[in-house]
Amino acid sequence: MQKISLSLLMLVFLWNCKSTKETASAAAAPAAYTPSEAQLKMALNRWPGTTSAELSEGNKIYTTQCNRCHGNFPVEQFTEKKWLHEVDEMAPKASLSPEEKTKLTKYLLSMRDTKVSPVQN
Ligand code: HEC
Repeated sequence: MQKISLSLLMLVFLWNCKSTKETASAAAAPAAYTPSEAQLKMALNRWPGTTSAELSEGNKIYTTQCNRCHGNFPVEQFTEKKWLHEVDEMAPKASLSPEEKTKLTKYLLSMRDTKVSPVQN
């Protein structure tokens, strides 16, 4: 009987250790960006087949590689034409691959859509 309660105690102890560790590592990793349903809808309207993961990666590129020399400009600050021009100019500065540039463009323009023309869908 005593043996059983001891094993139970060990189990609870181990369980607690495990969950504490998980919480700690979750807190250390930055939260991944999840696009809103509206943003994904906007992106799908323009580029059929766009995935939520692509938009998350676009956000990551923007918030880690596009703010090394200056801050992140609010997406609604510029026209779409200006963004397309700037992404062309800035992609080499941030050493983006063509795939990264595409994800960034999809992220920026769909995000802009949700802010500037939210009734479009
Ligand atoms: C190596 C440094 C550097 C990196 C990395 C960089 N930029 Fe820039 N960015 C600049 C400089 C310098 C300017 C201002 C002069 C110019 O337009 O070339 C600028 C200007 C801009 C402007 C124009 C702001 C205005 O008021 O007209 C935008 C928008 C912009 N960057 C977006 C981006 C984006 C998006 C990325 C990521 C792909 C990025 N930048 C990465 C250096 C950088």
